[in-house]
Amino acid sequence: MLLKTHNPVNNEAASLDFKQRIRKIAHNSTFRMVFLYFALFILSSLILLSFIYWSTVGYIYKQLDHHIEYDMERLQNIYNTGGKERLIDAIEISLKQKNYDSIYLLYNKKNKQILAGNLNKIPYIKAGWQIIDLSALTDDPLQQNHSARILVMSLPENLIFMNGLDIESAHQQEHMIFNSLITGIAIILLLGTIGGFIISISTIKKINLINDTIYQISQGYFSLRIPSRGTDDDYDLLAKNINEMLNQIEKLMQGMQNISNNIAHDLRTPLTRLRGRLEVIQNDCSQATSEGIQEALIETDNLLSAFNAMLRINKVESGAHKGHFTSIIIDDLLDDVVAFYEPLAEDKEISITFEVRNNTSINADRDMLFQAFTNLFDNAIKYTPQQGSITVSSELINTTDSQYLQVSIADTGIGIPENERKKVLEPFYRLEKHRDHQGNGLGLSLVAAIVKSHKGSIEFLDNDPGLRVSIQLPI
Ligand SMILES: Nc1ncnc2c1ncn2[C@@H]1O[C@H](COP(=O)(O)OP(=O)(O)O)[C@@H](O)[C@H]1O
Ligand SMILES: [Mg+2]
Repeated sequence: MLLKTHNPVNNEAASLDFKQRIRKIAHNSTFRMVFLYFALFILSSLILLSFIYWSTVGYIYKQLDHHIEYDMERLQNIYNTGGKERLIDAIEISLKQKNYDSIYLLYNKKNKQILAGNLNKIPYIKAGWQIIDLSALTDDPLQQNHSARILVMSLPENLIFMNGLDIESAHQQEHMIFNSLITGIAIILLLGTIGGFIISISTIKKINLINDTIYQISQGYFSLRIPSRGTDDDYDLLAKNINEMLNQIEKLMQGMQNISNNIAHDLRTPLTRLRGRLEVIQNDCSQATSEGIQEALIETDNLLSAFNAMLRINKVESGAHKGHFTSIIIDDLLDDVVAFYEPLAEDKEISITFEVRNNTSINADRDMLFQAFTNLFDNAIKYTPQQGSITVSSELINTTDSQYLQVSIADTGIGIPENERKKVLEPFYRLEKHRDHQGNGLGLSLVAAIVKSHKGSIEFLDNDPGLRVSIQLPI
């Protein structure tokens, strides 16, 4: 169990490496929603642009076909009314108008003789619409590597008439349209990606801010609130409502704390008076009665120490001792605690060794830390059987983003099962098998409150056998 209290910022995100970050973003519901929306947007843009492309290009080629059909009809009429000679004249007139796009060919299919037109050779053609390559059929340098759309028709007298248009310029238009649509898609992709990222990152940031604050509050920083961004939008409203709820919870908690504080405080006086009376009675009564009174005195002392511990926990949690922080050397403090507990340890033949030392000084409340370490030593001796051992160590730990002092107190007792390590920090919680030992279950609650007030953390580990309590205190 680790109470992350020495760093109020949720460091989880900072320590993630790049891959993990990307995976985290990909799992984020906002990012997924924006990504899905973006994918749909791209798909519909692609469908729309393809439709524009096909209909525009289709229109260009349809126009060409209309033109050819119209010209074909015109020349066919000329042939029908004036015969072959008039058709040859009409083709030559049309060609003289310097329409480079027009392709004509009139030939006799029997003797393969070209009668009119601007092609030098007869291509392989069949009746109807088709596309032919002009390269080998013309000497015109302007038409090299071009293709033509042609309509072929058989006429009487073994004549074949071919009427068509060079489609190079239509090809160029098609390329131009294609290129501008590709550029359009690229721009949509780029703007969409940037926009999607900006939208999802800003939403993720807002949600993360709320999440981080709630995480810290769940770690015990009850006074924290979600900062308002002053935009009065739905996130601000959410933050405001959560803060309002937190205020109510804090009020309730303070009320509970005050009640327990008042009970402890108010019952202490009558209990002390009761204790005094019992002592008076004990002084002049029979031996048998005196023994009974002695037991009652022990119970009263237990009650009094429980009330005192409750009051002390409340005092630490309220932060009333903040003014007593001074620079102290932890090893000196631990030496004093060890000296204090040596006689008790000797009684149980338990050895105490100070294993690793470190002379670093930290800013702390000496009395509070003395209290915390005595509670831990008290437990270590209480819950370690005869002839056991206790080892103490204090080490300076350096990580990439922090530096802290780690004090460990390890014993050779039976330890605390993993599932109960969090619970023993709660007030009055004691392991079932320890209920017959003297104590009230408040010792570790006080330790936790003191460690937290020093922005430190506490961790219970296995000492195999026994318990290792590790306390981290920031420098
Ligand atoms: N060193 C330890 N070894 C085994 N169990 C421990 C140890 N320290 C504490 N515990 C368990 O945690 C419980 C809570 O400890 P604490 O709050 O100090 O209460 P208390 O000592 O009054 O019982 C103890 O009752 C005990 O069951
Ligand atoms: Mg204890």
